[in-house]
Amino acid sequence: MTDGTNAGGALRTRFTETFGITHPVVQGGMQWVGRAELAAAVSNGGGLGILTALTQPTPEDLAREIQRTRDLTDAPFGVNLTTLPTITPPPYEEYRRVIVESGVGIVETAGSNPEPHLPLFQEHGVKVIHKCTSVRHALKAQSSGVDAVSIDGFECAGHPGEDDIPGLVLIPAAVDRLTIPVLASGGFADGRGLAAALALGADGINMGTRFLCTQEAPVHDAVKKAIVTGSERDTNLIFRTLRNTSRVSRNAVSDKVVAILDAGGTFDDIRELVAGVRGRQVYESGDLNAGVWSVGMAQGLIHDIPPAGEVVGRIVRDAINVLSSRLALVAGPTVR
Ligand SMILES: Cc1cc2nc3c(=O)[nH]c(=O)nc-3n(C[C@H](O)[C@H](O)[C@H](O)COP(=O)(O)O)c2cc1C
Repeated sequence: MTDGTNAGGALRTRFTETFGITHPVVQGGMQWVGRAELAAAVSNGGGLGILTALTQPTPEDLAREIQRTRDLTDAPFGVNLTTLPTITPPPYEEYRRVIVESGVGIVETAGSNPEPHLPLFQEHGVKVIHKCTSVRHALKAQSSGVDAVSIDGFECAGHPGEDDIPGLVLIPAAVDRLTIPVLASGGFADGRGLAAALALGADGINMGTRFLCTQEAPVHDAVKKAIVTGSERDTNLIFRTLRNTSRVSRNAVSDKVVAILDAGGTFDDIRELVAGVRGRQVYESGDLNAGVWSVGMAQGLIHDIPPAGEVVGRIVRDAINVLSSRLALVAGPTVR
């Protein structure tokens, strides 16, 4: 077994110290996926599992899901609060209130400026990781008082922003300017990635796609098998022309969305194709062409469907091996 508790070593970073977790590996919020079983499995493996608040239809449901997670783990876990522009915004204030009243100590904010959320969280000692896609937004979040940032490079599943800067440049560029802990996100799936992120100056990694393809992820097996067989080329960027880019699986629906928008179409022309309910159907029914569903380039690095805790342990162990063996050898005096 290679779960987080017997990884054969530990990588302590400013992130693990600040957030009180064992390993610098985070499971980012995932709509329809970030439920109790997955978050608890990641946290039990020594990483930081995160529930997705808006996967729960009401704040009361979120309170129940938090309790369900507590029943499955004694380790710290967090809640993701994604604020994206919508016609009818969810009752964010009530979701915030449930988070603090439930005693959750860690929140991942994403989607827009975290400032409106911060006073309540800070008042209750809740630590905030803000997820963003650019150095300027990370700096702004730092000056607003968040405790860490998670920076999604162009490789990521979901919303990579509009700058198209991959992690290899984005992460060290951010680290150079920030003083708070930084999580590298987007394109990470294995120990080599964690070692690389640490080498770039990050304090840990955040992953979505890798955890989507684990036993506890509450999605149909066909989705996980598609990730295992998919390559790094099998994603599409939709909504480019609308400046709300999203990286999703390349399938019949996302191909069509790209074609319509490239031909000058508007959101009204694709509204029905990209409906959230259709994406959810993919996860529930396993019909990969039912709608659009988020996945990142990292699927090209994923070849199995292990328990989520084993993913955490394996990544840490492999990163330690890379850092202490292969890179130590490269740095040795005998290598010319
Ligand atoms: C299925 C799926 C759903 C996601 N939903 C959300 C979400 O609701 N809110 C959010 O902040 N990020 C969301 N993300 C992004 C992840 O939290 C994470 O930032 C991203 O997946 C990192 O890139 P990676 O997939 O290459 O690891 C989602 C990712 C996936 C794969």
